[in-house]
Amino acid sequence: MNHIHTETKDGVARIEIDRPDKKNALTAAMYQAMADAINAAEAESKVRAVLIHGKSDLFTAGNDLQDFLDNPPRDDNRPVFQFLYGISQAQKPIVAAVAGPAVGIGTTMLLHCDLVYAAPNTRLQLPFVNLGLVPEAASSLLLPALVGYQRAAELLLLGEPFSAQKAQEIGLVTEVIPEDQLFGFALAQAKKLASRPAASVRLTKRLMKQGQAAAVMQQIKIESGHFGERLASPEAKEAFSAFLEKRKPDFSKFD
Ligand code: COA
Repeated sequence: MNHIHTETKDGVARIEIDRPDKKNALTAAMYQAMADAINAAEAESKVRAVLIHGKSDLFTAGNDLQDFLDNPPRDDNRPVFQFLYGISQAQKPIVAAVAGPAVGIGTTMLLHCDLVYAAPNTRLQLPFVNLGLVPEAASSLLLPALVGYQRAAELLLLGEPFSAQKAQEIGLVTEVIPEDQLFGFALAQAKKLASRPAASVRLTKRLMKQGQAAAVMQQIKIESGHFGERLASPEAKEAFSAFLEKRKPDFSKFD
């Protein structure tokens, strides 16, 4: 069963996340499909922009917690890292249309997109600490750089949900767009990018990103080492089991 749909039209490669019964939670297979779609878009000259989206009330609830328990990503060849390397190094511009839950990687992937449009119903969240984990996708580097240390610390250490409006105020979202217009607007923006001189678009993106590119790769690797260790921690096991058993986690027994 494929929960990632792809289509290329008018120079735009669309990547749609479609697993509504699990709030678009991402499994290893879905990460691989998204990584493959980004790599294919990079290789195909007809593609001049990428659009990542879910539904008008759902982006993604982040990593599938059951899949994490079953297939923990222990080395950086795993699909989640293929996706992170793909999205963070893409030369072509990436547009995101975000609505509803945008949890974990649903928020951190936005740090690697170029234009991010979010509906007012968006609930972003970086719950890594609350799950006994650490941030990923170089968010521990990119978020403080983008929003300032104290605001990043609040988002990453408390891990509470925040709104599209707040995300726009801190610079993580380009513009807030009403739900019923979100997809059409984001697609139109992606088509606009596709109509621009492609080499200039790619070079401009590279010029803006190259100062941080090596540090981003290094941070993804460093975070992934800690992430793998934390996934095996009793705190993470307690947090994941509590979520799947629909109860509150109890971290009081861990130092
Ligand atoms: N992994 C696996 N399953 C998930 C999931 C995830 N990240 N997020 C949601 N689901 C599943 C739920 O277990 C539930 O499955 P069920 O119907 O078989 O019981 C279904 O999706 C619906 O989720 P539910 O929690 O009932 O929806 P909601 O609208 O009340 O809440 C969220 C939506 C996104 C706020 C909530 O599901 C959530 O917090 N998910 C976990 C997010 C998370 O921690 N992600 C990991 C980041 S590293």
